[in-house]
Amino acid sequence: MRTYNLCILGFGSIGRALVALLLKKRQELQTRYAIDWRLTGLATRRLGWLADPAGLDAQGLLRGEMFAAQARQEENVQDWLARAEADVFFELTSLNVETGEPAISHLRAALERGAYAITANKGPVVHAHADLQEVARQHDTRFLYEGAVMAGAPIFAMFRDALPASRLLVFRGLLNSTSNVILTEMEGGRTFAEAVQIAQEMGITETDPSNDVDGWDATVKLCAISTVLMGIPLKPHQVVRESIRGLSPEMVHAANAQNKTYRSVGRLERSADSVKASVGPELLKRDDPFATASPASLISHFELDVIPGLTMILHAPSDSDMPRTVAYDVLADWLRALER
Ligand SMILES: NC(=O)c1ccc[n+]([C@@H]2O[C@H](COP(=O)([O-])OP(=O)(O)OC[C@H]3O[C@@H](n4cnc5c(N)ncnc54)[C@H](OP(=O)(O)O)[C@@H]3O)[C@@H](O)[C@H]2O)c1
Repeated sequence: MRTYNLCILGFGSIGRALVALLLKKRQELQTRYAIDWRLTGLATRRLGWLADPAGLDAQGLLRGEMFAAQARQEENVQDWLARAEADVFFELTSLNVETGEPAISHLRAALERGAYAITANKGPVVHAHADLQEVARQHDTRFLYEGAVMAGAPIFAMFRDALPASRLLVFRGLLNSTSNVILTEMEGGRTFAEAVQIAQEMGITETDPSNDVDGWDATVKLCAISTVLMGIPLKPHQVVRESIRGLSPEMVHAANAQNKTYRSVGRLERSADSVKASVGPELLKRDDPFATASPASLISHFELDVIPGLTMILHAPSDSDMPRTVAYDVLADWLRALER
């Protein structure tokens, strides 16, 4: 039985869900994989940086104990990882769309000490994928990020492990459930503002919905997919982005009358070594699989040089399911890192 020292940076909804999942799966990890863990580092911006190579009290931390008394403030990440004797670093902090920092530097520091570095944060994938992979290679470790896009549908692992020597030519996806819930509510006769309010009541959108309705969330996901699965680095400003705000109730009703429906669709189309990328509303026939899935579902459709069409559907994840689903991807990345 090997025991790994785990360090978690970010203790929001995903960080907490990960600690709860680690506790729940402890026995299964011991019996099926002959591994155990101790949580030796936990940190957040406001609460401070905790480290103890003998292991922190994970249950107590979930109950909100320990931080105030024992955490250090303003710790350098290298020193914190060293104090915690980290074998595995989970980077679960907030997204910085513009630069991906400071998450990129934190992941690099973990890789440079030979730890596995795992994130659910799209920023480092979009802004530093090749660089972090290279640092991982140099230090004989792994950088993995399955939870960053379409958590619960292991698209990156599928390409890496199950689709060798394939080339992704076209991607088409419903990457943001909020936009599609809003469009469906507008079809039912609601105004845009009423539809946004319904999405907020379902708990799938923030008070300021612009990240979703203006296509930013889907744009960053498309950039991650192009960068990793097509090997073509893509930045948010290179994606042609159209908000669903431009659709009036009249346009949505007119589509409905013709047995059609609008969905906000993300697209990548490869040509030689470049990619055309767009996010925005598209008019679909009612029987299009993108229109028949429930509006809160997420869909990724891939067209490869060796497979004409392959689709993954994540059925209507609720807000309360999502952190657990992302935490599972993060845990699974750790197990995948150990498999190599
Ligand atoms: N929630 C989802 O459904 C979902 C799905 C897929 C991917 N993700 C990604 O997973 C990551 C975590 O999401 P979340 O929902 O857990 O976010 P969250 O609830 O907002 O928590 C973020 C955590 O990161 C900490 N943090 C932020 N910046 C930091 C910094 N510079 N240094 C140290 N700690 C920092 C915050 O600490 P303080 O509170 O002390 O500031 C907080 O503990 C994000 O990148 C998100 O995009 C989330």
